[in-house]
Amino acid sequence: MSAARPPEGTPVSSAPSLQIDSLAKHYAQAPVFRNVSFEVAPGEFVAIVGESGVGKSTLLNCIAGLDDWDAGRVMAGGTDIGALGAEARAHWRRRHVGFVFQAFHVLPHLDVAQNVGLPLLLLRQHDDARVQQMLAVVGLAGLGARLPQQLSGGQLQRVAIARALVHRPGLLLADEPTGNLDPATAEKVMDVLIAQTREQKAALVLVTHSASAAARADRVLQLRADGIAA
Ligand SMILES: Nc1ncnc2c1ncn2[C@@H]1O[C@H](COP(=O)(O)OP(=O)(O)OP(=O)(O)O)[C@@H](O)[C@H]1O
Ligand SMILES: [Mg+2]
Repeated sequence: MSAARPPEGTPVSSAPSLQIDSLAKHYAQAPVFRNVSFEVAPGEFVAIVGESGVGKSTLLNCIAGLDDWDAGRVMAGGTDIGALGAEARAHWRRRHVGFVFQAFHVLPHLDVAQNVGLPLLLLRQHDDARVQQMLAVVGLAGLGARLPQQLSGGQLQRVAIARALVHRPGLLLADEPTGNLDPATAEKVMDVLIAQTREQKAALVLVTHSASAAARADRVLQLRADGIAA
């Protein structure tokens, strides 16, 4: 018998999957944010909101080790990301992170199924059944052979979401994942992200301007230049 899924709004209590301590970041002479601290428990969904330009995408990039920061610490699943070199970070990210980028970053010369399957290929865990399953879950069954240029913006966004989930990462980072979707499809995509978070006991950090997406989070944190708070 499988364990009962905790109802939405019930954080799972255990050691944090993600722990951000006093993070600070600037670009050239311009400070972006400082004093950013929060934790995400396994199976928990935290939404981050804040004005355009406040640094939400930058914060996700730092958490994923795609960008460097000036002060503070990022701990993910017991790993100190700042202590890893570039190659170790890339390996860690490949195995443990699913990232839905604000600008999709779908590879134009790969078809839809190849894009979705890329994380598995990089892990040498090619699994076509899993790819087809993920395509079906995001409502793209039958479109696996298409090239990205033959898809709509909302369909591309769903390719990016399927790709972020296909390898069952422990840390899910999503930057406006419903920004290009109609309300019904957005709801379905949120269902998929939340189900995966609960089932895999992943930590989901989702940046959004959407009130309906944020309303489904266990906690909503507001990012400001001088910190982050509920
Ligand atoms: N590579 C970069 N070099 C210099 N400044 C940058 C760079 N990337 C972002 N910025 C600046 O850092 C600030 C934070 O940008 P970021 O993209 O993180 O904002 P955001 O909160 O995600 O905004 P939005 O809601 O519009 O997506 C902005 O002022 C932006 O202009
Ligand atoms: Mg952004």
